[in-house]
Parts: sequence; C-alpha cells; structure tokens
Amino acid sequence: MVGTESVASLLMDLDWWQYRSAERDDFFASLRRENPRAFVPVGTRGFWALTRHADVLEVSRRPEDFCSGEGTQIFDQPAKLREYRGSFIDMDNPEHARLRKIVSRGFTNKALSSIREDIEATVSEILDGMPSDGCDFVSEFAALVPLRIIDNLLGIPRSHEAFILEATNVLLGAVDPEYVPDQSSEGLASAMTAASKRLIAILNDLAEERIAEPQDDLITRLVAANDAENLTPQEMAKFFILLVGAGNETTRNAISHGLHLLTKYPEQRDKWLSDYDRYAPTAIEEILRIASPVVHMRRTVTHDGVRLGDQEFNKGDKVVLWYGSANRDESVFENPYDFDITRDPNPHLAFGAPGPHFCLGAHLARLEMHVAFRMLFERFPDIHTIGEPDVLRANFLNGIKHLRVEYTAP
Ligand code: HEM
Repeated sequence: MVGTESVASLLMDLDWWQYRSAERDDFFASLRRENPRAFVPVGTRGFWALTRHADVLEVSRRPEDFCSGEGTQIFDQPAKLREYRGSFIDMDNPEHARLRKIVSRGFTNKALSSIREDIEATVSEILDGMPSDGCDFVSEFAALVPLRIIDNLLGIPRSHEAFILEATNVLLGAVDPEYVPDQSSEGLASAMTAASKRLIAILNDLAEERIAEPQDDLITRLVAANDAENLTPQEMAKFFILLVGAGNETTRNAISHGLHLLTKYPEQRDKWLSDYDRYAPTAIEEILRIASPVVHMRRTVTHDGVRLGDQEFNKGDKVVLWYGSANRDESVFENPYDFDITRDPNPHLAFGAPGPHFCLGAHLARLEMHVAFRMLFERFPDIHTIGEPDVLRANFLNGIKHLRVEYTAP
C-alpha cells in the first residue's frame, strides 16, 4: 500500500502528475484498490481523496451531505480572490438554482441547435487563418474555437479576445510559470487579482452598452437579471468570470488531447473517419473519458456522522473527487487504459456527475468538439501531432499549452 506521505506528495506534485502517465495510472489504480478514500494531510485541515467511480458519483448526488458552498477548489482561495471567483459553482441551493437558472436556458441542446451554424462559421474562419503546413495547434485552433464561441455567446467583441485568453490562462493556470512568472504567493494573488479586475472592467463597459442597447447575448441576459433577479454587481462579475473561464479553458484541452490520441492510435482515427457521424458520439465521449480535462473538484461535509461506505466524516471535512481516476476505474470500464472510440456505454464523469452541479456547458462542449473535429479533418485530412505535448504545470486542469502539428494544405 502506498504510504500517506507518498500519497500526499504524488497527488500534489504538479509536474509528476502530468508527465509520467504510466506511473500515474499505476498509482491511481493502487489507490482505487487499496486506499480509495485516502486521507491527505495537506492544507488547513487536509482532505480525503476519492478515487473510485462509485464514490465520486455518490458524493455528487448527495449535495445535502457534501456541499459546494464552502468552495470547490482543492484549497481555500485567499479572501482577496473570493471577491471575484466562485459564482454558482461554489454555492448550494437555493442560491445555486436561482443563479444557474438565469443562463441555463441558453445551454440546452435545443437552444444550442440554433447556434450550430455560427459554430461552423467560427471554425471555418479559424481554419482559414491556419498557416499553410504546420503550427502550434493550441494557439492556432484548439484554444480559439471555444474562446470565440463563448465570446460570441456572451457578446464580447473580437478586440478583447487576446486579453480574455491571457486572463483566463492566468486564472486557471496560475501555477504554471509561463502564465505567472512570479510564483510567490503575493505574485500569484496579484496576477490573479489584476486579471479579474480587467475582466470586470470589460464586463462593466459591455453591460453599460447593453443597458443602452440590448442584444441577443448572455451579457444582455445578465443585465436584465440585474433588475429582475436582483443580481448584484459582484454576483454578475463572478458569473462572467466563471463563464469565460469554464467556457474556454476546458474544451480546448479536450480538442488538443483528442487530436493527440487520434495521432497515437491511427486505427481508431481511421475507423472514426470511415464514418464520421456514426462514430462521433462515442468517439467524443471516449476522448473526454481518457483526457478528463478537469482533474478534480472539492466538496465539504455538511454535518457530523456523514457516511460513505465504511468511512465516517465530520462536519467541515473536505473530500476531493478525482474525476481522472474515476474515469479509469476498472470496475466500471473494461480495459480502462485502452482508447476505444466505440466504447458504449461510457459513463465517464468528465463533466462531473449527474447532480445539481453537472457541467452547464456539457452540450456546448460536445457540439464544439463534433464540429471542430469534423471540419478539421475535412480541411486537413492528414493532420497529425508531432512529438509530445507541452503540458500545463497544474493538477487542476489536465491542460496542453502547446502541441505541434503538421498537415498538407488543400
Ligand atoms: C461545471 C467540466 C466545458 C461551464 C463543471 C464541472 C466539471 C466541468 C467537472 C464541475 C461539476 C461539479 O462541481 O460537480 C467541463 C469539461 C468541459 C467543460 C471537461 C469541456 C470539455 C464547459 C463549457 C462551459 C462550462 C464549454 C460553458 C460555459 C460550466 C459551469 C459549471 C461547470 C458554468 C458550473 C455548474 C454548476 O455549478 O452548476 N464543468 N466543463 N463548462 N461548467 Fe464545465
């Protein structure tokens, strides 16, 4: 059995987590087998790392026992940052339902079918701008697709695109020195505060414009909610930061990991491309399962005596849901390390588990992936990745910063 100290250092090691994937897989397999609710004595009061699929599912379904309102990031955020971050992802009912409802209509399958053509036009424009025979796939394609789409949905003009990307990179990838060179706690807090303040300034300007002239976009909906739902300026700011961050920092990694997997497993790629629409639904879920762009989320125990299996918890205890491990749980997935684009059923938890906090953008992310891969392979049938990805130093996002690709232009 892996000792407590090693569990703590391996789970927390930002570099090991990303680079050594075979060893990482063995480590999580041994945790699931021997110590599936491992106590990790790190942070103010430590946390339990839940690595089995069944536990992650059950905790997500019991918000009355395991709440989100004390924060869902693995460690408490500094007080200064809590002014800007969180929104309804870090809330419980009734506030959670009140806020989520303001935008949820815009993210249903039905509402999204009306923007499919916009997504296609966006992807087409991005493909037109790609260099002729090779590039960094992340900056030229994978990051741009979800970024432009969430910006369009919110109503953010193209002139802010570069800054939005830079700011969300800082907010979600702060512990990578490429995004925040000063890694001291003051350096991190000041970079994140500055990024948040500039995002809020953009929101405030756009909100004023929408008050004067409403549009068919999410900022107009937030402005309307300001009156109708008593949305406070601070709630509105957190809402905006959550949507721009979640909307672009996650799907980008699913697209990048997806292309890398399809390059590594050419027989899977050939099968998918032999009948794109037939295999797309299962192929997309399999990429999400294997890539698991969001590594974990936290919950807090709401009262003494809460049980999960044979483990009893006390009020205030923290549990962390390790989605990447749940998605390789051999008791649920046959041959969990195989990348199989026909896997069905595929009850992965990459978007969280069905429950009040299930990812609001799941339909949107799937639609973006469907359109992005189809149009990418139509335009560049021989596109493939070169070498290994340059991965984000982090253990919250399973991120790819740079990924070299080559292709023949038509
Ligand atoms: C929540 C993953 C794309 C918006 C979540 C959660 C996960 C997740 C794991 C947390 C669930 C929990 O705490 O139980 C992903 C992945 C994505 C993706 C892997 C892409 C592949 C998106 C997109 C949006 C989005 C495109 C667009 C706005 C949100 C929001 C929440 C959320 C607003 C909070 C929901 C709530 O607390 O009610 N997502 N997400 N996500 N996601 Fe996503």
